[in-house]
Amino acid sequence: MTAYLIKNVSLVGAAPTDLLIRDGVVAEAGAGLTAPDATVIDGAGLVALPGLVDLHTHLREPGREDAETVESGSRAAALGGYTAVCAMANTSPVADTAGVVEQVWRLGREAGLVDVQPIGAVTVGLAGERLAELGAMADSAAGVRIFSDDGHCVADPKLMRRALEYVKAFDGIIAQHAEEPRLTEGAQMHEGEVSTRLGLTGWPAVAEEAIIARDVLLAEHVGSRLHICHVSTAGSVEVLRHAKARGVKVTAEVTPHHLLLTDSKAETYDPVYKVNPPLRTATDVAALRAALAEGVVDIIATDHAPHAVEDKECEWAYARPGMLGLETALSIALDVLGPQWDLIAERMSRAPARIAGLAGHGLDPAPGVPANLTLVDPAARRTIEPAELASRSRNTPYARMTLPGRIVATFLRGEPTVLDGKAVK
Ligand code: DOR
Repeated sequence: MTAYLIKNVSLVGAAPTDLLIRDGVVAEAGAGLTAPDATVIDGAGLVALPGLVDLHTHLREPGREDAETVESGSRAAALGGYTAVCAMANTSPVADTAGVVEQVWRLGREAGLVDVQPIGAVTVGLAGERLAELGAMADSAAGVRIFSDDGHCVADPKLMRRALEYVKAFDGIIAQHAEEPRLTEGAQMHEGEVSTRLGLTGWPAVAEEAIIARDVLLAEHVGSRLHICHVSTAGSVEVLRHAKARGVKVTAEVTPHHLLLTDSKAETYDPVYKVNPPLRTATDVAALRAALAEGVVDIIATDHAPHAVEDKECEWAYARPGMLGLETALSIALDVLGPQWDLIAERMSRAPARIAGLAGHGLDPAPGVPANLTLVDPAARRTIEPAELASRSRNTPYARMTLPGRIVATFLRGEPTVLDGKAVK
């Protein structure tokens, strides 16, 4: 195994130092290190972050390998600075059995670019009718701890209660896609002034807020862990603030796109901006940014949702919701938060690793710690060219935008997955 000596790199909250990476761990940290056998990387001007961890990635395998595979999504993740991703269950077949979650887990190990931790479905086929084999998925080689019907809401309150009760036994988490389905029938975009003007059916904020309110009460009643996917409204932030103040075991994520873009993008009728939950108003964006800074929203998760060209480049009403996220998330975070490295490390690495229970991830580089880290050049700016992305899909809302920050290198247990900004394999 090659050793790497990173010279003069900035650590979060510390003066520039040298890092020696050997045998999968950070072997030494300090000024003036030497190691004749090591490959030297000039870290001057770079920031070393704990490898990013994404709690919400759609890898599309099995079933839609034309849109993404575990391998292509893993490569996109590594290029985005990630060392671990949690793969959502809305594949085909659905990841609702031990067999499918083990398949995704094994494909992740074979790709070897990030740690792929499968999320299991809550209900059979995401149909919202019967609980899936939660225990069998937890006991499988994949060791599933997070369950989600993401893409669909677990709308039946009794089923939601049963799911929360079931996972309590092994400290599992139900990650809810909060969308009251009757309130969003036929919805195409955020319900508000823009949807009225465009004549598109609206997705009201209350459809999200009502489910979060119900589920924090259920989680409190049962004493289980609840996670809220892609929080998108100012009202949801208020419900979460209230629940956290009561001591409910609830965590929440926000996506990069909900931190940056608003529903005014729908005026272009470009389906690249169609996403679920939809882009909201500037007031919501401001509330989400404040909640992230405050910790009412715990993490940034990408909701990386690759879609084939024919599913996106069509009329708005027929387009699938979702946008790419893995290769641009850190740049959007830098754009939105500025160089608040401790906050970025917390919201994009430490906290998601803690929530998902991913041992060896989310740890700041220090002697003895597994070398899962990423090197960022904060001074670089890059223009996003969809054709240059590693994802098999092209549905980025940031095409031709110039964004701050560039991932220079990513290490997974001491092995580089990205060097000089390029994937190693
Ligand atoms: O926009 C979305 N796309 N939201 C979801 O909840 C699911 C996702 C997908 O799977 O494409």
